[in-house]
Amino acid sequence: MKQIETARANLRRKFEKIEDKNAILKDSEFKALFDGIRGIEPDKRSEYGKAINDLKTEVKSWIEESDEQDNEKEPIDVTAPWDVNTPKEKRPNFFNTTQGSIHPITREISDIVDIFQRMGFVVEESREIDNDYNMFTSLNFPLGHPARDDYDTFNTDEGLIAPAHTSTMQNRLLKKYKDNLANEEPIAVVVPDRVFRNEDLDATHEHTFYQIEGIFVAKKVNVGNLIATLSAFMNDYFAQNLETKLQPFYFPFTEPSFEFAIERPDVLKKNDSEEQKWLELGGCGMIHPNVLFEAGVDPKTSSGFAFGFGIERMVMMKNGIEDIRHFESANLKFLRQFK
Ligand code: DAH
Repeated sequence: MKQIETARANLRRKFEKIEDKNAILKDSEFKALFDGIRGIEPDKRSEYGKAINDLKTEVKSWIEESDEQDNEKEPIDVTAPWDVNTPKEKRPNFFNTTQGSIHPITREISDIVDIFQRMGFVVEESREIDNDYNMFTSLNFPLGHPARDDYDTFNTDEGLIAPAHTSTMQNRLLKKYKDNLANEEPIAVVVPDRVFRNEDLDATHEHTFYQIEGIFVAKKVNVGNLIATLSAFMNDYFAQNLETKLQPFYFPFTEPSFEFAIERPDVLKKNDSEEQKWLELGGCGMIHPNVLFEAGVDPKTSSGFAFGFGIERMVMMKNGIEDIRHFESANLKFLRQFK
């Protein structure tokens, strides 16, 4: 009996270690036990034989238990075109999952958002269908105003619009976060998302692309705060101290309005010529009092800035990509270069 107890302990130790659990039934410990019968006194043989068989039954239950545990770890896929016993390395890899990569736009957005979050901005999403009120009216585009025509919007038969800029979220976000102001906290939100324009397509124009919008509203916010925020972002993003330049522009929803440009960062430098010096990145300005008022924010006590720029442009410049249409093309040859 002592011999059987020792064999049981040995078997358990081996069982924990081996990969193919069934192999334990063929272990030499069993053979040794059966061979041992001959050395046992005849009247004790049946008791001894029964103990060996009990041990064998126990070992079989170990195997069953471990199968059940394996199944818990990996649920059976009844649609899989291979047998459950096919080892992992022999299963076909239809999806080439090892070759997947993050889309360059996704990666860019997460880098950009990361910087704004560290500066205290919260992140919100835009939407893929909206109405005239959010896209235009709430942003101080009067009905029939020619500036509406600058956005070649896609419209549905029901009169809805696929938003042509992330500014379509300004009114909603001002309303959503305006209680911050009563608590002496700013409204600080960025919105990276897709926008749509019914444009003629070419190497720099795509019907679907990404923008990042930012709004910041508090007491006594001024253009200096706008410049400081955008500069801090650009310096962090390009890991370099860069000159920033604002040039006058027109948007109905900001007053004054600007286009902002940065000194071309070293990574994007081709030569030192003057026209190569500046990179125009997007629009910005002080949020128009009508836009604040429309969202229920008192423009007499609060003011703010907003900005918006295209994301593809940044990725294209950084990676020397010549055609914006690659991004939405689902061309794996293009995408797999961004590992
Ligand atoms: N929505 C503008 C566009 O797509 C970009 C923009 C300009 C956004 C100025 C802003 C802003 O928030 O203040 O052309």
